[in-house]
Amino acid sequence: MHENDGSECTACGGCDTGRREFLSTAARVALLLAVPLTWRTGIALASGKLQYPLPASDGATIDKENEMIVARVQGKAYAFALSCPHQRTMLRWLPDEGRFQCPKHKSKYRPDGSFISGRATRGMDRHPITLEGSTLVVDSSITYREDQDPAAWQAAFVAVS
Ligand code: FES
Repeated sequence: MHENDGSECTACGGCDTGRREFLSTAARVALLLAVPLTWRTGIALASGKLQYPLPASDGATIDKENEMIVARVQGKAYAFALSCPHQRTMLRWLPDEGRFQCPKHKSKYRPDGSFISGRATRGMDRHPITLEGSTLVVDSSITYREDQDPAAWQAAFVAVS
């Protein structure tokens, strides 16, 4: 509804209310388009680390076998544990919402793993990640919990261009 005339609002951008709604919708659509989902099993290296190709653009890769999510989001790449930090349920990507969500108690997370709402009390657990040439290398033997080591959790990404 428009604030002034009570008519049905189509979020056309023709007034302040419409412009806000239009920009909010446009940002959401851009996020959805920017973060497609693929499925891939990482290559196990002799070091025990896992290797993934660097996505050409923003997107998330789910590796069920290694219980890993690798995401490229706005110039940064992250590696997340696939399980929800609350009670270890496998997280899902919701394309219509442009974010991760736990199917068990509905905790919500942004594409960078940060916590939005729900029963979980922290962001998605992260693993150390490095960029080696055109591949991402993840050390799944180390996990950073946001509530136990917030500095390491915050720093657990690699800049990509
Ligand atoms: S197991 Fe994910 S919110 Fe409870």
